[in-house]
Amino acid sequence: MADEFTVTPWEVTGDIDYDLLQKKFGTTPLDDALVQRLSKYGEVHPMIRRGIFYSHRDLNVVLDQYDKGNKFILYTGRGPSGNTHLGHMMPWIFNKWVQDTFDVPMYFQMTDDEKFLFKDLTLHDTGNMAYENALDFIALGFDPEKTKIIVDTKCMHKLYPVALKVAKKITFSTAKAIFGFENSTNIGQIFFTAIQAAPAFLGTEEYGKQMPCLIPCGIDQDPHFRACRDVAPGLNYPKPATMYCKMFPGLSGADKMSSSDENATIYTTDTPKAVKKKVGRAFTGGKSTVEEQRAEGGNPEVCAVFKYNYCMFEKDDKKLEEMAQKCRNGEILCGECKMCLTEKINVFLEEHQAKREEAKDVIDSMAFDGFKW
Ligand code: TRP
Repeated sequence: MADEFTVTPWEVTGDIDYDLLQKKFGTTPLDDALVQRLSKYGEVHPMIRRGIFYSHRDLNVVLDQYDKGNKFILYTGRGPSGNTHLGHMMPWIFNKWVQDTFDVPMYFQMTDDEKFLFKDLTLHDTGNMAYENALDFIALGFDPEKTKIIVDTKCMHKLYPVALKVAKKITFSTAKAIFGFENSTNIGQIFFTAIQAAPAFLGTEEYGKQMPCLIPCGIDQDPHFRACRDVAPGLNYPKPATMYCKMFPGLSGADKMSSSDENATIYTTDTPKAVKKKVGRAFTGGKSTVEEQRAEGGNPEVCAVFKYNYCMFEKDDKKLEEMAQKCRNGEILCGECKMCLTEKINVFLEEHQAKREEAKDVIDSMAFDGFKW
């Protein structure tokens, strides 16, 4: 039977079976024992408790190193192809928790080159987007002293020597097997994975010692890091560890929030009115009439409004369970839930937008190797 979903770094479609995906990619479940272990460092983030960050590679190895006093460097990234939406922020919020909990340095890679190569965008477009997206990243409160932003086309002098070493170890047939390239693929795309691998090893170069690396990100990025991990031992770099999250859902009920569906996507710069309108149209697990819903209840499992609370906006497990229960009992109707979520998102965005303005004052200081934005 044909797959009903596709997950690659460039395409996420269909109804994703996350357990199956994990098996296909060969990543490891973030099991109870590991969650238990994480709880020793601080209160475990709701995204772990709720199985949003659900899979990993070698997390235990970086923790072993950490326990011996060897800090890891945190690494995640963003392909600047458009405005930031809530889905992009979910893994960043998690990264901020990791930085706070473990007090570690961080690289944030912005792959303007990737989006130029893979999309119909100019380098001017992707460069502008990198700046705008970086403001959102900084607004989440990453430590400006410890966090460096890498914009690929501006930092190539540092990335290229590392990327070259990586590229020399990856054959075309391996790249094809991992990413499914064809004869018509432009050669920049084929090389690109070496660029995304580079920040995972950059810590070792910059600090002049074996520097473990932890990469929390969407599971769609795993193909890159599989390739990256395979070449690490041959280059005498530590294999980076990864932590993977599920995709952030769209308001339409789709598995992934996507800019191609503007009305089902909440951008960080949206006005309260826009948010109200978008949430108002969200896909829910409600019934077609009030009477029916009062009698039979709704289904929070499929409801986008509930998913938003689950992923990001209701941190209290008890309140979340109450919400689900009331929905199933027919005690609350969709309109009420939508109003509640609109309010929470707007409170979040109001604060975020203020911090996003303040980010303009520190963005220069966070440029890796002092590049000019
Ligand atoms: N390829 C990623 C994207 O399109 C951007 C990226 C670069 C990234 N380095 C990363 C994402 C490391 C996660 C982790 O969004």
